[in-house]
Amino acid sequence: MDQITPADEARPPVRNTPVISVRGLSKTYDGGFEALKKIDLDIRQGEIFALLGPNGAGKTTLISIICGIVTPTAGEITAAGHNIVSDYRAARYKIALVPQELATDAFESVWATVSFSRGLYGRPPDPALIEQILRDLSLWDKRKEKIMNLSGGMKRRVMIAKALAHEPDILFLDEPTAGVDVELRRDMWALVRGLRERGVTIILTTHYIEEAEEMADRIGVINNGELIIVEDKATLIKKLGKKQLTLNLQEPLEAIPTELSEWSLALKAGGAELEYTFDVNDEHTGVPSLLRRMSDIGIGFKDLNTRQSSLEEIFVSLVRRPQ
Ligand SMILES: Nc1ncnc2c1ncn2[C@@H]1O[C@H](COP(=O)(O)OP(=O)(O)OP(=O)(O)O)[C@@H](O)[C@H]1O
Ligand SMILES: [Mg+2]
Repeated sequence: MDQITPADEARPPVRNTPVISVRGLSKTYDGGFEALKKIDLDIRQGEIFALLGPNGAGKTTLISIICGIVTPTAGEITAAGHNIVSDYRAARYKIALVPQELATDAFESVWATVSFSRGLYGRPPDPALIEQILRDLSLWDKRKEKIMNLSGGMKRRVMIAKALAHEPDILFLDEPTAGVDVELRRDMWALVRGLRERGVTIILTTHYIEEAEEMADRIGVINNGELIIVEDKATLIKKLGKKQLTLNLQEPLEAIPTELSEWSLALKAGGAELEYTFDVNDEHTGVPSLLRRMSDIGIGFKDLNTRQSSLEEIFVSLVRRPQ
């Protein structure tokens, strides 16, 4: 039997405790605009959570409030067990934010900016760590360069380096790959995965559905200040896994023949099309056997096509405004 040490006994079941808890969060900006409407959200320890939504949905507002940059109008938020308003310093110590807007000291060197950022949150200097971060982000060669002389993608990497210099437990990335090339985007994804492996909880916002699909453990979709869905990516992928096979029949059918009752079929286009919905994740999709059975009972088709409902379609249908 494994020996249970007092430390083991004392260890809390972190996986089940949300690292961030948001309850009844609303934000009305000064002009009266309601940017967030009663948001409830739990972020799990160690996950990558992607917040997906169109322009103006409220993504930046939501994460700016959690990071203590914008004041909420109503609601309760805790981060790493600390209330972000009454216990701001303790909460902020655990958090780093890579903002959407690039704002750095143009005249400082990369090295100075990143090192200074660590000191801002009261961490002792650690040149070895700064070196590692700059190397990981391919910024080591540029360490003496002034920020203003860097390209846009490099500036974005500097912002990430500044955030990592805090050694955060929780990292917010607001549109981390907006305007960066494909290669850098892949590098960033790898970096973010590496951080997750070290136990960092990551919340990112993105317009790129592909990015959410690639990176996230869970996905939240926000629209018009409302969180309209929060789901495990795997569950969404399952929905994604649904495919439709449409067969354009040679002769229209009035009803689905009983010989075909074991497949989930629908008649479309006034009986001219037979639509079969199946799960691409299944080992047996049922497509070959369906086609064989149709041939056996003499139902011919002129053409066929398949389509898959993508996360993009799910997203678009979720955020489509009522006409
Ligand atoms: N300081 C502010 N004062 C008034 N309204 C604001 C302010 N900041 C944001 N808003 C409004 O709140 C809404 C949400 O903005 P927010 O920046 O959170 O959206 P977003 O989802 O991050 O959008 P994007 O994808 O374009 O970054 C927008 O309609 C925006 O105009
Ligand atoms: Mg934004």
